[in-house]
Amino acid sequence: DWTMKNYAQTAIEQIRAKVGDGKVLLALSGGVDSSVVASLISKAVGRQLTCIFVDHGLMRKNEGDEIEAVFGDGSINFIRINAEDRFLARLAGVTDPERKRKIIGEEFIRIFEEEGKKIGSVDYLAQGTIYPDVIESGVGDSAVIKSHHNVGGLPDYVDFKEIIEPLRQLFKDEVRALGSELGLPENIVWRQPFPGPGLGIRVLGELTKEKLDLLRDADAIFREELHLAGLDREINQYFAVLTNMRSVGVMGDGRTYDYTIALRGVVTSDFMTAEWARIPYDVLDKVSRRIVNEVKHVNRIVYDITSKPPATIEWE
Ligand code: XMP
Repeated sequence: DWTMKNYAQTAIEQIRAKVGDGKVLLALSGGVDSSVVASLISKAVGRQLTCIFVDHGLMRKNEGDEIEAVFGDGSINFIRINAEDRFLARLAGVTDPERKRKIIGEEFIRIFEEEGKKIGSVDYLAQGTIYPDVIESGVGDSAVIKSHHNVGGLPDYVDFKEIIEPLRQLFKDEVRALGSELGLPENIVWRQPFPGPGLGIRVLGELTKEKLDLLRDADAIFREELHLAGLDREINQYFAVLTNMRSVGVMGDGRTYDYTIALRGVVTSDFMTAEWARIPYDVLDKVSRRIVNEVKHVNRIVYDITSKPPATIEWE
């Protein structure tokens, strides 16, 4: 695509001109937006960019390693902080969804700040803000139901002169096209949206390492089967939720009393409204059998058939 190629070239030149010999810092989440920003800026100014990836231990199965495989090959300054223990310690006993979000957000900033200080003063803070974020947060009360958007005042937790947001004019599909143009792998370019608090808001109620591992396994099976069924691009977001509910089941000769996993899949263009995805019964059947057989302590699977509104996409 020659247009995107030109766009990439121009963007790289503009970043180079703006940054000069300054230092740039980026919080890399591994999502498509921050990944494209990392790639663009590193092509423009190379090692003047440092990317910090705070792995909060609330990522999906293998996800932290996948991100490290892409960015940690030594060609860019990439720092991965494995902070699972810190996050889980702070979240112990916490059940309220908004408190969980708040704690995760605060701990993230604290760690980013600690790491930023080790790097010393930076000139620019890079962010993966895209056009829809700009409009959504600009229009006063176009209702953010949960406190979750990346846009807001300037973060004051690292010392820097200016923010750079090279994707500010792009829609999501353009960001993906740009990512492909820059040579990012498919698993990053087509990554579905993933909330900042991660699986922290998909294990309902109190978080434990055991529950998170259980959810990771169930979620990986769901995602694998949707991929095999060729549905992973038409369903815009899909994931498993570990409900806090246990129920009676029967397995072999014995009675079980185990967890219920809920599956969620939605079709949407803007994530402000969404329709529950009509996943074929045979695909759901396969996912259900596999999860119950392969994931210990799960004996029941339900599929969420509510659209947004009235339900939100996430369960917490
Ligand atoms: P809801 O659940 O509000 O989600 O319908 C709409 C979209 O936003 C994502 N989401 C978040 N993203 N931090 C984020 O970065 C958050 O705290 C957060 N909560 C929800 C959600 O995954 C969906 O794509």
